[in-house]
Amino acid sequence: MGRLIVVSNRVGQPDQSGGPSVGGLAMALGAALREYNGVWFGWSGRTVETFTGGLSVQRGQGATVATVDLEEQDRQEYYNGYANRTLWPLFHYRIDLSAYERSFNEGYARVNARFAQTLLPLLKPDDFIWVHDYHLIPLGRELRRRGVKNRIGFFLHIPWPARRLFATLPFHRELVEAVFDYDLVGFQSEDSLSAFEDYVEREAGGTVGPNGRFEAFGRSLQAGVFPIGLDTKAFLEGAATEAASAWRDRMRVSLAGRRMIIGVDRLDYSKGLEERFLAYEEYLSHAPEALEQVFLLQIATPSRDEVAAYQEIRARLDAVTGRINGAFATPDWVPIRYVNRSYRRDELAGIYGVAAIGLVTPLRDGMNLVAKEYVAAQPPEDPGVLILSRFAGAAEQMGEALIVNPFSREEVSDAIREGLAMPLKERVRRWEALMAGVRRDDVDAWRDAFVSALRAVPQRELPPAA
Ligand code: ADP
Ligand code: F6P
Repeated sequence: MGRLIVVSNRVGQPDQSGGPSVGGLAMALGAALREYNGVWFGWSGRTVETFTGGLSVQRGQGATVATVDLEEQDRQEYYNGYANRTLWPLFHYRIDLSAYERSFNEGYARVNARFAQTLLPLLKPDDFIWVHDYHLIPLGRELRRRGVKNRIGFFLHIPWPARRLFATLPFHRELVEAVFDYDLVGFQSEDSLSAFEDYVEREAGGTVGPNGRFEAFGRSLQAGVFPIGLDTKAFLEGAATEAASAWRDRMRVSLAGRRMIIGVDRLDYSKGLEERFLAYEEYLSHAPEALEQVFLLQIATPSRDEVAAYQEIRARLDAVTGRINGAFATPDWVPIRYVNRSYRRDELAGIYGVAAIGLVTPLRDGMNLVAKEYVAAQPPEDPGVLILSRFAGAAEQMGEALIVNPFSREEVSDAIREGLAMPLKERVRRWEALMAGVRRDDVDAWRDAFVSALRAVPQRELPPAA
């Protein structure tokens, strides 16, 4: 059986400060690769004066991790530029933040070509290649141009936007044409798949046949929905450690009988943090009984802080938490505990475990693994309530949560009230259904479904390279 070659911008190494690498992709792929004699290839996160394509290879638990250094210009134009200033905002419905600069396009094309060039000597003819996320959409095309015939799959971790939004991207057709160099394309949700389908049929003049066969640009691919899950087993093991238990004890002391609402996110405008704080303020304003009895713990790890939109959202959140705390706090209570750092998974499991409400209200999100982690961390005999945005991919799977529109302060405020008042029996009923899904649709199920679908596609015959 061929090896699995996973390619993503970031590989699952500690971040530059030595802390855990935060983000859904790193969490999920670390787990997926342990099962395979796989290779994980990506950017080291470092930059050098001149790109050499030299690989740094580490053999870890089960998988080999191979990384390449990029140039500073690559980091600016490809990572900070096209990936995080053009595609990320657009794919999260923020065309107001999406920047279109030719140098970003050039950097994106250059880095994808560099990835292909560096990966090429590592490949064996029977390898399966699995490319991840919006940073690397044209990688399949770059590999095909170099004569790679292997089966290549692509999984998008973020939403695919609605057709008319996507069409605001200069060169949108070229990007979708590049998608057709993959054999299999996976999305997180039906919502994303149907947006892609709509584009292929109505903008690219293609067709969508039965069983997810897409044809356009004279080529065809297989597409489907593969909702990503937690590494549930590892997460539950983490929740059963001393460290998790110590956090539960520490938090119980700090609760002192109060009830906690929790949010855990990268500090990203797509996560709806400002709207969340304003909805919570709305709740406090109409619930005098909650004052001093409830608080919101928001853990928000700074992310992509070289990009102006991230600096701006951070400043806005500093201001809004300061204002709300100033307005409502008393000498021995603050309504929002706002924490800008990251925690290990076992520590987080402990902290989630004592929260009466998990407040997960992104404005758009491919999946959102925090929703699943919150559920997995709950004590079965007294579980908390998940409030979940209808615009997270997770909402398609987690219907027993209180599903809200994150743009409506009143709706989120009502859900907080409902969640805090929910009788134990109903909490248990909802949690049991949610937890069954978290166990069943875990990261292993996701990986197996994708990899077996990739293995099932026929290997393509390419014309010999000119
Ligand atoms: P995204 O991929 O957009 O960051 P997800 O919710 O899918 O969003 O995944 C986020 C992952 O990163 C989760 O596993 C979550 O626990 C982790 N994470 C987010 N914020 C923190 C934090 N402050 N400390 C530790 N882990 C975090
Ligand atoms: O899951 C979406 C995602 O963009 C991943 O691709 C990424 O690794 C993660 O969020 C965190 O973002 P970054 O790698 O830019 O810190």
